[in-house]
Amino acid sequence: MGLIKSLKKKLYKFKFSNKFKENEIINKRIIVTGSNSGIGLAFIDLLIKKNKIIGIVNKNSENLEKFNNDNLRVINLDLSRINEIQKIKNIIENFKPNILINCAAVFGNENQNIDNCNSDDFVNTFKINCIAALELSKISINDKLEQIVNISSQMGSIFSNDSGNYYIYKTTKASLNMITKLMSFDLEKKNVIVFAVDPGNVKTKLNSGGYLDPKVSVSNILDLIQEQNKELNGCFLSLDGKQLKW
Ligand SMILES: NC(=O)c1ccc[n+]([C@@H]2O[C@H](COP(=O)([O-])OP(=O)(O)OC[C@H]3O[C@@H](n4cnc5c(N)ncnc54)[C@H](OP(=O)(O)O)[C@@H]3O)[C@@H](O)[C@H]2O)c1
Repeated sequence: MGLIKSLKKKLYKFKFSNKFKENEIINKRIIVTGSNSGIGLAFIDLLIKKNKIIGIVNKNSENLEKFNNDNLRVINLDLSRINEIQKIKNIIENFKPNILINCAAVFGNENQNIDNCNSDDFVNTFKINCIAALELSKISINDKLEQIVNISSQMGSIFSNDSGNYYIYKTTKASLNMITKLMSFDLEKKNVIVFAVDPGNVKTKLNSGGYLDPKVSVSNILDLIQEQNKELNGCFLSLDGKQLKW
């Protein structure tokens, strides 16, 4: 790694790491998707002691089993099977979540340029990254719901996009952003705050070259959640709470 790149990485890590602190989110009922790895797993780790959580996982839950904590209920659900989301409707309705964190996503195939992006991969990625988030939001609406947090990506910003390629991932995140904005209007009358957040450049399965530890990223997002700030409704935010351009 070149000197400038290495310095940029250090500065980036410093900018967010020095904000790392214990969160004050307590006694909430929270749903987290994509919770067996990366950012989703870090949400569970930082929330499990003082909150009741449903962790939605794809097939594997081995990382969640290690918590061995009664505050956590694990549900296996392949979010690409949209019709199956209805099967957990009763469980979610009885749980009455205060906060839904739509974190699950896939990147799609490695090759996503104009010549080789594949339509089946596109549809599958769209289902997981967008439609599943909407369907879960729909069944999570209840009189105790306070916030829906959609884990988006700066790569979904049309304003900041300055290159081609990555048709699938970028389009699904741009669509998730639109879903966020739409829900912010529809759920405002129910006093629900809906926002999208870019978690930063985080070292996970999805981004092996990432800079931030998932817990550092999540700690910053929890700061935003615990604000319960109505002004965040309908916003697309970076980790430090600044508004990103759609
Ligand atoms: N890491 C970054 O730098 C970065 C940057 C911008 C945005 N993000 C966003 O952050 C979120 C979390 O990603 P991550 O970086 O933590 O990567 P990750 O570890 O790969 O997490 C993605 C999670 O989604 C789950 N998932 C994938 N397909 C699923 C399906 N069909 N049904 C149910 N769950 C499914 C995965 O479970 P399985 O692995 O078991 O399938 C995994 O736990 C994503 O929305 C991602 O787009 C990450």
